[in-house]
Amino acid sequence: MIRPLRWETGGGLTYIDQSELPGTVVWVHPAGVDEVVDDIRALRVRGAPLIGIAAAYGLVLAAQSARPADSLAAVEDAADALEAARPTAVNLRWAVERVRGCARGAQAAGASVPDACLAEAQAIRAEDEAMCRAIGRNGAPLLEGLDAVLTHCNAGSLATAAYGTALSPVYTLLESGRLVHVYADETRPLFQGARLTAWELAAAGVPVTVIADSAAGAVMRRGLVQAVIVGADRIATNGDFANKIGTYQVAVLARANGIPLYVAAPSSTIDQDLADGDAIPIEERSPEEVLCPAGRRVAPPGVDALNLAFDVTPAEYVSAFITELGVHRPPFATTLPRSYAGTRLRAGIGEP
Ligand code: MRU
Repeated sequence: MIRPLRWETGGGLTYIDQSELPGTVVWVHPAGVDEVVDDIRALRVRGAPLIGIAAAYGLVLAAQSARPADSLAAVEDAADALEAARPTAVNLRWAVERVRGCARGAQAAGASVPDACLAEAQAIRAEDEAMCRAIGRNGAPLLEGLDAVLTHCNAGSLATAAYGTALSPVYTLLESGRLVHVYADETRPLFQGARLTAWELAAAGVPVTVIADSAAGAVMRRGLVQAVIVGADRIATNGDFANKIGTYQVAVLARANGIPLYVAAPSSTIDQDLADGDAIPIEERSPEEVLCPAGRRVAPPGVDALNLAFDVTPAEYVSAFITELGVHRPPFATTLPRSYAGTRLRAGIGEP
């Protein structure tokens, strides 16, 4: 199983530069938190849970680089910069606030701020892996017996500590010899489906077929897939959710074709402050990503592009959310809060 980020004793933080995939596996070693901020912005490290984990370790680098008397101030400055790096995935803010709280607590108690930050970052990483594993166990029965599923973007091990969210049930089935074929939307403009999902599934031995984003409806209509499973970057308490641009149209197509849509995410992706999806901040990225896909200009000079990185899918299109605590069916305003009401880490976490 790919673990795309590590903390090496004595060596600090390292992660795979995902902008180089699938060509080359390059491990980068950010020297300081500014590089972590840049790498999150540039999607060298990406995926909602993974940017939270990277940011948590980024705060460790910030704390370690300051004099002991200044380490809390360094953490506070870096926390603001990290939270601003990408606006849509709530996991980033969630992880940063956890580490910031520990840093403040350590300072108040006269303990080491860098040590407290490191302990919390390690806990966040370990919990994410355990949550993804539990999502796999909880979601596998929903996919068992299906010939194929369709996914959008990359919500696999590359987007998390390990196993992924949407792909974790696929890996769980694989472990017991049950193969589910995956159709991967290429996911323009940055091709996370073609570059990353196809790469990690092929490496694991899962049969994968890349399709143009615009082929999703035709693939469903031909009966080639029996379910859609995607991740999420932020889930409102009513079940509206943000995910990679194009997810909304996949959801509408799934409904039109009578195919269930499953959304797999750890409870850290639920924004308990949001009643619905209207207020989810949507990242807009450079028009160049749309105008020059894979580095080759396809639009005439002087033409502009709108590059929305995420969209919001209304809850009515979701058949179920799969979290570490179980499978949550509508009405989500009632069933989703059970996944974070003080029980978040109890069920299934840490079990083999
Ligand atoms: O822009 P990205 O590549 O960070 O977007 C990633 C996605 O939209 C994923 O589907 C989402 O983060 C879920 S990852 C478990």
